[in-house]
Amino acid sequence: MTHYKIPVIPGDGIGPEIIAEGQKVIDAAGEKFGFDVEWIEYLYGADHYLETGELISEDALSELAKYPAIYLGSIGDPRVAPGVLEKGILLTARFYFDQYINLRPIKLLEGVWTPIKDKTPEDIDFVVVRENTEDFYVGIGGRAKKGISKDLLEVSRILYSAKFGLDIETDSEEIGYQIGMISKEGTDRVIRYAFDLAEKRKKHLSSVDKANVLSDIYGFWREEFEAVAADHPNVTTDFNYVDAMTMWFVKNPEWFDVVVTPNMFGDIITDLGAMVQGGLGLAPGGNINPDGTSMFEPIHGSAPKYKGMNKVNPIATIWAGAMLIEQLGETKAAASIVSAIEKTILDGKVRTYDMGGTSGTSDVGDDIAKNVKCD
Ligand code: IPM
Ligand code: MN
Repeated sequence: MTHYKIPVIPGDGIGPEIIAEGQKVIDAAGEKFGFDVEWIEYLYGADHYLETGELISEDALSELAKYPAIYLGSIGDPRVAPGVLEKGILLTARFYFDQYINLRPIKLLEGVWTPIKDKTPEDIDFVVVRENTEDFYVGIGGRAKKGISKDLLEVSRILYSAKFGLDIETDSEEIGYQIGMISKEGTDRVIRYAFDLAEKRKKHLSSVDKANVLSDIYGFWREEFEAVAADHPNVTTDFNYVDAMTMWFVKNPEWFDVVVTPNMFGDIITDLGAMVQGGLGLAPGGNINPDGTSMFEPIHGSAPKYKGMNKVNPIATIWAGAMLIEQLGETKAAASIVSAIEKTILDGKVRTYDMGGTSGTSDVGDDIAKNVKCD
């Protein structure tokens, strides 16, 4: 029997409830497919931060780096200023582990209601590959008051580092600025990953940018896209401005197979994608470093107002768990979890409120675990 050790960070808000259901379902898949999991809990999040002032320690990160995959609930708490936990834990982990792919399937499962009239599971089945370490997420910027000032901004990544020494002079009362940055290495690797994925699917790759306005950063993205495209003559491609993309996601989702996007636009369009596939309660994601430590999580947040109520939909997290074990090589078990989710949805008896039902979080987990076992 294969024995896996999987670190789990339940996190904040509804995180512990949904992650418990995900663990339950993976354990059930293990019984059926001949593996077992030793869960190693890491209690980082708002409570730990409020008690100790620590977000996540360098020691914890280097320990976590020994594992191929981490299971994450959700991060964010109203007791802490917005962004502190998200940047200090979630983005810190994505950057530390160099998880340069954020893989977000947009797939309408059988039996799920979509707000898009006349579209079926056949029409809504694509994958967004979101760049996950660069762009406006590098987190460098500042504020300057009227007059003359200086600033030194630095980005440090495993792949490279970059420094910006700024001499600022303004007669505005105050300015705020944020630098978005992409690198040749960082852009090339995510676009290559997306082309490889398209090769395995329907051989169509769509790129997202805003090169008509932010031409320095996204003109560069386009150039890199074209360079990689030359190595994949059998994959058809198109370029899309992000604003138009939000329209196409709703109007013609069937056009898409794989979509590759810079980080910030990827953040925005995958919330829309989640809604197209039936809601945030159903949308999983993986932060992937193909040669290192990956991290799987639902794409929704910590929904603090539902904390501890056994109310929210655990399907996004359970599906993210399927992506996690697929990454570990348990392909059959992963597919059986997705089928079990579909069965629960199609049966229609056990549903949380967001899908029109009255069942609790744990009822949905129990039902999916049961379907995995007797599939
Ligand atoms: C997501 C989230 C995060 C992001 C936040 C919580 C930092 O919205 O995973 O999409 O912006 O990437
Ligand atoms: Mn988001």
